[in-house]
Amino acid sequence: MGALKFFIQGIKNFKEVGTFSRSSHFVAKTMTKDKHIDWENTKCVVELGAGDGPITKQILQKLRPDAKLLCFEINKKFAEELTEKFAHDKRITIINDDAKKLGEYIKDAGFQEADYVLSEIPFVIIPEDDIIEQAHKNLKNGGKFIQLHYSLAAKKRYERIFNNSEIDFVMLNVPPAFIHICEKL
Ligand SMILES: C[S@@+](CC[C@H](N)C(=O)[O-])C[C@H]1O[C@@H](n2cnc3c(N)ncnc32)[C@H](O)[C@@H]1O
Repeated sequence: MGALKFFIQGIKNFKEVGTFSRSSHFVAKTMTKDKHIDWENTKCVVELGAGDGPITKQILQKLRPDAKLLCFEINKKFAEELTEKFAHDKRITIINDDAKKLGEYIKDAGFQEADYVLSEIPFVIIPEDDIIEQAHKNLKNGGKFIQLHYSLAAKKRYERIFNNSEIDFVMLNVPPAFIHICEKL
């Protein structure tokens, strides 16, 4: 999907998309870096709000050959784009459904819990905490919730649910990004 088509989806569905441009390569690299994710021992990654796939692409580059990625995207156009780009990869399941159902999809895929949940859903403009709470519930102990934002406005919500949060800042993105990293203790 070109930048203009992404921009149009951003305008049409701002309350879900929350931005007008996809994440940069630098955001994708930061969200998936070895400091945050133990790739060698990871079997199940869940991505929430994949858009047209900049973070998805990087996750697949780092994911073990025998591991799985459950990739949620509620927007039909973005889900079609993800299917076109990535469905040939047997490790990925593209789910055109609401991320709040992540628990049932994790079980259907044969896992008890996820090792990591990476999310780009714009919770700053979504007041409900149900998806964040589901992510916490369906993570293994020691697993991490890694969330993209453009501000620190939602930090307290993650701290309330996870009791901790660390920030990684990415200057090279429009707008600059704050990656929130929360561990399930
Ligand atoms: C900020 S965009 C991020 C897109 C892409 N991951 C990126 O980083 O460029 C947020 C995405 O979350 C999706 N989204 C919002 N609410 C969702 C939900 N409840 N379930 C699944 N996807 C959702 C939107 O459709 C949108 O594609």
